[in-house]
Amino acid sequence: MVETKTMPVSGKKIFPLPRHVAIIMDGNGRWARRQGLPRLAGHRAGTDNVRRIVEAVDGYGVEYLTLYAFSTENWRRPGREVNGILHILAGMIDRETEALHKNNVKLSHLGRLDGLSPALKTKVLNAVELTKNNSGMTLCIAFDYGGRAEILDAVRRIVRDEVSPEKIDEALFGKYLYTADVPEPDLIIRTGGEMRLSNFLIWQAAYSEFYTTPTLWPDCTEEDIEKAFIAYSQRERRFGGIKDEGEAKTD
Ligand code: IPE
Ligand code: IPE
Ligand code: MG
Repeated sequence: MVETKTMPVSGKKIFPLPRHVAIIMDGNGRWARRQGLPRLAGHRAGTDNVRRIVEAVDGYGVEYLTLYAFSTENWRRPGREVNGILHILAGMIDRETEALHKNNVKLSHLGRLDGLSPALKTKVLNAVELTKNNSGMTLCIAFDYGGRAEILDAVRRIVRDEVSPEKIDEALFGKYLYTADVPEPDLIIRTGGEMRLSNFLIWQAAYSEFYTTPTLWPDCTEEDIEKAFIAYSQRERRFGGIKDEGEAKTD
């Protein structure tokens, strides 16, 4: 549950913590370039960093963590890079699923599976199936995910279900998204310094707090995450309303 927590790195007590954190894991390519390495080495280093951040976020008591691993637009990259990323992801599922399961983490996939090879698709489905009854943190991997594709997929299913127009409201629409069982993200963190969503959770992010750090994803540590949480705890979320000032006059 969301409660005042002492931050392990800074020792500060903060409230509130986000219930759902989503991370745009960007900057693998720049990290590799800085080291004089090929881009795939950056993707490998980035993937190796996933465990550290998942464990850190879990340790804070966050209920949902979503990681943006591969976008529908990332297919535009050279075939060699795309294949390399797919290969690295398959290896990560093989290596990490058992440990995540032991830690009571429930895995979920956001995106399309049909563009993946049958072997990779099966790996993803097996990992989701294995962990489906776990009661700890939910870890959503956004892979072959695009916000616009998600919205179009929802519209297609709504039309196929012959839902009458009067019944279509935000709650119903949300149930047709990949995130049907997941609350909207409270905090979206982007590493690598860009100030954009890049088609990530564009429906769900309507009132998410946004935090960006120049740290490149393979270098991202607990400390960066904690800084984001501290910044989040100091934000005032108004959702279009006004700050509750008790007897404040509105005229
Ligand atoms: C993010 O790192 C990983 C994916 C998009 C798959 P990038 O590969 O986008 O790294 P930069 O932005 O080029 O540094
Ligand atoms: C967003 O990063 C996608 C992921 C991190 C998976 P990109 O590197 O693809 O985003 P753009 O192209 O800079 O907007
Ligand atoms: Mg990038």
